[in-house]
Amino acid sequence: MNDSQCNLADIYAPIQSELLAVAERFDRELLSDVAGVQQLCDYLREFRGKMLRPGLVLLCARAVGSCTPEHITLAAVLEMIHIATLVHDDVLDEAQLRRRSPTLHAMSSNETAVLIGDYLISHAYHLCSTLPSPQTARTVAACTNTVCEGELLQVGNRENWNLTVQQYLTIITKKTAALTSLACRLGAEFAGADNAATEALAGYGLELGIAFQIVDDVLDIVGDEEEMGKTLGRDLDKGEFTLPIIHFLQRADASQREEFRSLCHRSDSSRAGRMKILLDGSLDHARKTAQDRAEAAMRYLDKLPDTSFRQSLIQLSRFILQRRA
Ligand code: IPE
Ligand code: IPE
Ligand code: MG
Ligand code: MG
Repeated sequence: MNDSQCNLADIYAPIQSELLAVAERFDRELLSDVAGVQQLCDYLREFRGKMLRPGLVLLCARAVGSCTPEHITLAAVLEMIHIATLVHDDVLDEAQLRRRSPTLHAMSSNETAVLIGDYLISHAYHLCSTLPSPQTARTVAACTNTVCEGELLQVGNRENWNLTVQQYLTIITKKTAALTSLACRLGAEFAGADNAATEALAGYGLELGIAFQIVDDVLDIVGDEEEMGKTLGRDLDKGEFTLPIIHFLQRADASQREEFRSLCHRSDSSRAGRMKILLDGSLDHARKTAQDRAEAAMRYLDKLPDTSFRQSLIQLSRFILQRRA
């Protein structure tokens, strides 16, 4: 597998059967005898995403030890929390498309989507409470608190034309990287890793999550909606300024800022093309920043044993830079 060929199927090949077990655990937890609720959960299950958080739990476990039934539960818990945040995030963003199908709120209503998000969070903790130590649920809950803080900070900074890179990094660390880091940390801890290996993998997950979100923010501006399978351009529509925009605004002269402002208020198809030209250097800067963070992630893996699992973690940090979906 070389750089240009890294795709998720190859990366997940060493944990294929464990990932299937995660999907089964997930589905079993979400069984409901209320037909309408079951239908909505079936809808969510039908469209699986990249399974990045479960993939991280399992690869980190196998990179330092073996995979236990607790890992399968944990991976299902983290995916459930992730999907809950997506269902709520799509309401906040008023997005119409997710995982190549209509968002839950577009298909039902905002009220239903808010409640299904709550339902997923509740099920995540219901499932998490089956783990032997109550400390795990506390750790997962602390992370969910952080994710909510990130989303709240993001909403609170809408239309903040003075948002700094540091503030942006705080937002994305909280809303995205905290969960990817936790996936790696718990994967390692439950495999009995020593402190050094656990911290190294948590560090890997943090840097990977930051790089992942920066790439996502670039794709929100330049990505292809069909390939991505989700509504794009919502960051700009909502006045949520991400790294390329912050970098641009810090350097733009008055006329460039004015052009940016008028483009923000346009929602026609020509906006993306003009925006790409205006932001060109700043998009490159953001891509380079993501690459630096992905390389920092990889360096955390230096001291791990050379296994196919470590190799997959390396490939995953390359994959997230190249992804188009
Ligand atoms: C989307 O996450 C939300 C972000 C953190 C950018 P993913 O891109 O991992 O979503 P799925 O699970 O593959 O749909
Ligand atoms: C959302 O970030 C991250 C969450 C924690 C839900 P985005 O708003 O960039 O995610 P997408 O682009 O809608 O998937
Ligand atoms: Mg969103
Ligand atoms: Mg996005």
